[in-house]
Amino acid sequence: MAAAGRHGCVLVPTMGALHAGHATLIELARARAGACVGGTLPVVVSIFVNPSQFNEATDFDVYPRDLDADCAWCARLGVDVVFAPGVDVVYPPDEDVPVGELPAVAKGPGLEDSFRPGHFAGVCRVVRRLIALTGAAAAVFGEKDWQQLQVVRAMVEADRKRGGPDVEIVPAATVREAGGLAMSSRNRLLDAAGRRRAGAISRAIRGAGAIRSPAQAERHMAGVLEAAGLEVEYAVVRDAETLGEVRPGFPCRALVAVGVAVAGAGGGVVRLIDNRPWPAVGPAMETIAG
Ligand code: PAF
Repeated sequence: MAAAGRHGCVLVPTMGALHAGHATLIELARARAGACVGGTLPVVVSIFVNPSQFNEATDFDVYPRDLDADCAWCARLGVDVVFAPGVDVVYPPDEDVPVGELPAVAKGPGLEDSFRPGHFAGVCRVVRRLIALTGAAAAVFGEKDWQQLQVVRAMVEADRKRGGPDVEIVPAATVREAGGLAMSSRNRLLDAAGRRRAGAISRAIRGAGAIRSPAQAERHMAGVLEAAGLEVEYAVVRDAETLGEVRPGFPCRALVAVGVAVAGAGGGVVRLIDNRPWPAVGPAMETIAG
């Protein structure tokens, strides 16, 4: 890793269980790596299920892991380095790996920050650490985790202003299954009935895109999700960057988080999130895989 990243790299940070959505991230990374001034940078995919961002131990335990299959994916996609460090490399027992300052978008909106307390502290901690370990010049993040993308952007920008590394954050559009379900490693935990019910998520957000009032769009989403038997955590329309209240004239986003009850995974609940630009403009930009 040290040799590959000596002159910087393009990093795709992941928690493994790679799917077609990650393939898009990796392809973008390859394009970005080839476009750099003065030669091609290596593309590094990090695979690390980060314990510090899970607010429930059971969620961490059942998170899907398949390193052999992930490495095969990476080889097919022309990745230069798979960086799959152990916990002791990311968080050495004799070294303090600080969380650092959290941007406002990680604390204020009342979305992932409220429903997964401590989650963004863990994300910021590990992303700062992975950037330092890999010497990343650029890093690719999926738009499916919209609040995470805004948090990482704000964090990297604040760190840069304080003299930290200048890392370009490259956003990657969400990839969807044929029925519209956003690709996620967690989809593997859905049973057939759960997968059918989860189809309501993209229907709800799509429908909201055609409704011009944020309050009505939110009611529409909640109605569709509840009718499908999903446990709604939030279904909101927010400012796309701050994730605070809608500001007239600024881009907005419809965002949803739900729990899908499943018979598998110990009869547990699979938590899924999704989002789209709001109101809908032109044809959807996301890729449908397959
Ligand atoms: O989005 C993810 O998979 C994780 O939150 C990330 C960015 C790899 C940090 O662990």
